Amino acid sequence: MTSSSKVSQSSKEHALQVRKLAIIGAGKLGEALLSGILSSQLVPASHVEATVAHQPRADSLAEKYGIKAHTENARAVAGADLVLVALKPQQVRGFLQEVKKHLRKDAVIISAAASVTTALIERELGRPARVIRAMPNTPCLIRQGMTALARGKHATDQDVATARRIFDSMGRSVVVDEKHLDAITGLSASGPAYVYMIIESLAEGGVKLGLPRELSTELCAQTLLGASAMVLATGEHPAKLKDVVTTPAGCTIDGLLELEEGGLRVTLIKAVVRAAERAKQLVESQNS
Ligand SMILES: NC(=O)c1ccc[n+]([C@@H]2O[C@H](COP(=O)([O-])OP(=O)(O)OC[C@H]3O[C@@H](n4cnc5c(N)ncnc54)[C@H](OP(=O)(O)O)[C@@H]3O)[C@@H](O)[C@H]2O)c1
Repeated sequence: MTSSSKVSQSSKEHALQVRKLAIIGAGKLGEALLSGILSSQLVPASHVEATVAHQPRADSLAEKYGIKAHTENARAVAGADLVLVALKPQQVRGFLQEVKKHLRKDAVIISAAASVTTALIERELGRPARVIRAMPNTPCLIRQGMTALARGKHATDQDVATARRIFDSMGRSVVVDEKHLDAITGLSASGPAYVYMIIESLAEGGVKLGLPRELSTELCAQTLLGASAMVLATGEHPAKLKDVVTTPAGCTIDGLLELEEGGLRVTLIKAVVRAAERAKQLVESQNS
């Protein structure tokens, strides 16, 4: 076997057994998922059909990724064995009504819409549909994502395994009870925005001390990356890792005192709680 045929053989083994993948609502998150799936060769571009609301956006996705892209959801889901929904939460119900006649009975539906429960999707389709709820984040775009998955009543172990293959290829995934998903939305799905604000602010500290902004941002972003990697690699409590940095009567303790005085911990805790509350409200009336 030549090396090139070995490569194509192994990417075939790696690929998901999906005849047609429909990505509904290829916006910021949907495009991140599309890009992750294609770059990890889980599904070939020729098997992917994506939809958006506006044709010019569809044309640019088609050109960029070599997929079929348009604005007709019913056409996209027809014959699809895997449907990835990345619409705004308030649009999911209308979408399900629009496509339910065209959806294969055995299609696996993975919905990344915040707040929309698997029960709502099953109810709207009016049958025991195979549904998985996913809560990813945008670093999926560079394979550093964090995704929580929850299975609906009728999803099989195989469906969960398929969802894990997809999201593991874009970072990490965990399988959780669905009751945790609103909290996870406020934590890891919204989380990148909090972290960008933290990076921006720390970098401003460097700028205040005379560091060039680009250098300051690089120092800061890599510091967060390194510290995060330490937490994951060591499994240590973050407080213990913090203590290692904090020399008695050194500089770090002075910085920490400022953070305590500014209420950093309480502020971050409240941010997660507020975002999770909002996640719960998005389609609350439709879920029950
Ligand atoms: N952004 C995140 O970090 C993140 C993380 C986790 C979960 N989510 C969830 O992902 C979902 C999408 O969020 P987003 O930030 O990616 O929003 P977004 O960028 O606004 O994407 C929504 C996409 O849906 C398309 N669209 C609108 N109506 C449609 C319709 N009827 N049929 C087909 N496509 C339609 C839009 O098309 P046009 O581009 O043509 O307008 C747009 O591309 C939300 O439910 C959110 O809760 C987002």
